[in-house]
Amino acid sequence: MALLLSTISRANLIKQVYRPLLLSTLLFCTAAVADRIESHPLETTATITLSENCPPSFMLGDNNQCLLRNLYQLYNSLGDHGIGGLKTALPAHRDGFSPQQIDLGRLLFFDPALSADQSVSCASCHNPSQGFSDGLGRSVGIHGQQGSRSAPSLWNSAFIKDFFWDARAQSLEEQALSPLFSPQEMGNNPAQLLSSLEAVEAYPQLFKQAFPDSGDLNLDQIATSLAAFQSSLISLNSRYDQYAHGYADALNKQEVEGLNIFRSFVARCSQCHMPPLFTNQQIAVIGTPEPEGRARDIGAEKTFGSAKLKGGFKVPSLRNIAETAPYMHSGRFETLREVAEFYSGGRGHAVPEGEDLLLHWHISEPNLTGDELDRLVDFMGTLSDSSLLPIIPQSVPSGLTTISDEAASKKTISKKNISESNHEQS
Ligand code: HEC
Ligand code: HEC
Repeated sequence: MALLLSTISRANLIKQVYRPLLLSTLLFCTAAVADRIESHPLETTATITLSENCPPSFMLGDNNQCLLRNLYQLYNSLGDHGIGGLKTALPAHRDGFSPQQIDLGRLLFFDPALSADQSVSCASCHNPSQGFSDGLGRSVGIHGQQGSRSAPSLWNSAFIKDFFWDARAQSLEEQALSPLFSPQEMGNNPAQLLSSLEAVEAYPQLFKQAFPDSGDLNLDQIATSLAAFQSSLISLNSRYDQYAHGYADALNKQEVEGLNIFRSFVARCSQCHMPPLFTNQQIAVIGTPEPEGRARDIGAEKTFGSAKLKGGFKVPSLRNIAETAPYMHSGRFETLREVAEFYSGGRGHAVPEGEDLLLHWHISEPNLTGDELDRLVDFMGTLSDSSLLPIIPQSVPSGLTTISDEAASKKTISKKNISESNHEQS
């Protein structure tokens, strides 16, 4: 490929390489999606066979490993240069899991059998129909308990190096154990988790299929499968991506204006939300206000033991951002327009008097006009793509109810909780 790229002119590059590649990628994906929907076995019996195919956008390599393929791999990496132009490579990613591990992770992700009282699955808070988030400012775990932060989207987790708003976990495997054993989220413990999965007729043999060489069902296998599934959630075919790869018509005039504002040194959004992942994966203190009546969440100060990072959070990726309201670590803002207004409101304007926060130098005084704020919102809307949504299991090995019915009832609980806690505080 390197040789090919160097022998053709830039003008011909799009015609000769990107278009056929994009088209063939799209065709491949569509065919693969159709194939997975039609041919996937029923998941109700004890003899489920895990998929032998990689999800769309992955190629089966040697040693039964699924390897990611996308157009961004044709571009140079950013290194330390600039702020990420249209044709910049993505950061390093996780791949190489087997098709069976990815498929087992998918079943585990949707199975409430992983929680102590068998009522909550990962998907309860990371719902695929809500951008793998839950539409709440603060997530609700077992026994209707409200947590302190909002559930981030899991799209493109393969590219993320630090997890949680405060960057306290360094791998998907490390991350996964946290909700499983958190009393507020899934409330389980290692012994009970293992025994409840072993008690489900299908699981021991499913784990054998996914891990033929590594002994009886264990925690590492659970963490690996969940990491494998989450690393397969690839969202890189938004209208923005089509524009970035050379299709000028993929964005309309307002959206291009929005992109230019986003990248301008006045608004400075892309200094932190750096394309193509729309995050530079750093921590920044930006002075987000907490919801009315709530104390400051110190965020990354706790992780790194550094007072300079008080109120600092990981810069979140903005991919599929239109699907994951409300926004910020606590869901303080309901709409993207409110977020844009916050940045335009002036450096530190929302930090309560007398509180000392060391705001990041790129938080400035952009004074954007109403039209410019609208254009930013238009642009953020172009980052949506769920064309490679995995198949949501109709039923899970435990036979328990998956998200479809549960999501609706959970909403009611949480709304009640939120109004109660606001009431107590006011
Ligand atoms: C009760 C709701 C809830 C459940 C259940 C839940 N999560 Fe989360 N998840 C959250 C919240 C809230 C956060 C952010 C917490 C924080 O940053 O302190 C989060 C963060 C994450 C992150 C970090 C994302 C990032 O980019 O930083 C990953 C990955 C994740 N969860 C995966 C899972 C998996 C896998 C499961 C099932 C084993 C799961 N979650 C179960 C609510 C939940
Ligand atoms: C100095 C780095 C920085 C700059 C500049 C910046 N952001 Fe952010 N952005 C962050 C951080 C950090 C968060 C999370 C803050 C929090 O949760 O309190 C965030 C959160 C967001 C969110 C919410 C994401 C979510 O998942 O809830 C949106 C939307 C957003 N920024 C858009 C923008 C726009 C538009 C601009 C330009 C006007 C901008 N950002 C400029 C660092 C930055």
